[in-house]
Amino acid sequence: MNLNQWTQVDSYIVEKLVDTDPVLKSALRKSLDAGLPPHQVSASQGKFLQLLAKACGARRILELGTLGGYSTIWLARGLPPDGRLVTLELNSKYADVARENIAEAGLSQLVEVQLGTALNSLAELAAQNVDPFDLIFIDADKQRSAEYFSSALTLARVGSVIIVDNVVRDGALVDARTDDPSVQGVRRLHELLAVEPRVSATTVQTVGSKGYDGFTMAVVTGK
Ligand code: DHB
Ligand code: MG
Repeated sequence: MNLNQWTQVDSYIVEKLVDTDPVLKSALRKSLDAGLPPHQVSASQGKFLQLLAKACGARRILELGTLGGYSTIWLARGLPPDGRLVTLELNSKYADVARENIAEAGLSQLVEVQLGTALNSLAELAAQNVDPFDLIFIDADKQRSAEYFSSALTLARVGSVIIVDNVVRDGALVDARTDDPSVQGVRRLHELLAVEPRVSATTVQTVGSKGYDGFTMAVVTGK
């Protein structure tokens, strides 16, 4: 098994099951043209996030790491018409591209792109006493995955679902001697989850057009 085969299988899955309309294709193209790194979720992962939003009956979604808004569009399309998605982005150029893509998707009324460091924005949201988020997607700076998780947890309720992207990192997750700050970050996340009594979590390994990686899923079981 190799990336080529995983990509072919991803293409087959997308052809059969995933409706990638011109808006999503345009969002990808505009992100690439603007020079954004190609770190957005794959189409099948985007559809998965949307299905998860629907399965949770999510009315409020929080995303950390907007990039060009590709996953944002998938997630927002899983919301009811009066739903809300707040997405946090540090890079103002990425946020501009995302706002344009979100507008083109007709989702500007539902989606708020907040510029700034995620930890600051999370603290502001907590200070504003916003309603809890039903689904939280953490896909930002991997070094800080554990800190983002802890902070996002304060904005959740019992039953909320939290997904953290890119936690397996080609299997480097098990390398205790790594000096890669991103791997250290996702290891700290697992160490935190191992002792955090308020959530129940697992990590699912994935392969596909984005290579070998995986995501953590946590359900808030107590507050
Ligand atoms: C990277 C970040 C991502 O969110 C992703 O899905 C893939 C790669 C990265 O920073 O390398
Ligand atoms: Mg990611």
